[in-house]
Amino acid sequence: MEDESVLSRRRFLSRVSLALSGLAGAVVGIPILAYLLSPLLEPTPNEWRDVGLVENFRIGETVEVAYDDPSPLPWAGQTARTAVWLRRSGEADFTAFSINCTHLGCPVNWRQDASLFLCPCHGGVYYADGSVAGGPPPRALNQLTVRITSDQRVQVLPRSLTQTISRA
Ligand code: FES
Repeated sequence: MEDESVLSRRRFLSRVSLALSGLAGAVVGIPILAYLLSPLLEPTPNEWRDVGLVENFRIGETVEVAYDDPSPLPWAGQTARTAVWLRRSGEADFTAFSINCTHLGCPVNWRQDASLFLCPCHGGVYYADGSVAGGPPPRALNQLTVRITSDQRVQVLPRSLTQTISRA
């Protein structure tokens, strides 16, 4: 009789232990699984981002313009803020260079005096057209699609990265 009682207590504790382990696994595993699957379930929206009036940009200048990346994560906060280097080459001729180095993603700086993009992290250097001039970057700076709206505003398309330049 006592043996049965001990056995049933042991069985009960074993089941409670299993249930708690399963609960702990679910508490940890479900958010991780949801995070990993979220890009498949909810694709990142791609929306034009306004960066200012055409008249605010001078022909021949390359300036940094910031915008909010259309992130699907409500808690992205400040990390959803990003920027591009925008160059106005003519009346309606704009080029937007990704601010991120193609090596490891550090933000590059534009040096007007040298007409170069410089990466402060590992010394990557890009020519004015975004092609690699030296250092570790494996390829040219990415470019984003730019448009001018009917009310003369400049907009960039965040998820339109293209790499159009290659130098021999
Ligand atoms: S991140 Fe730019 S050179 Fe390494």
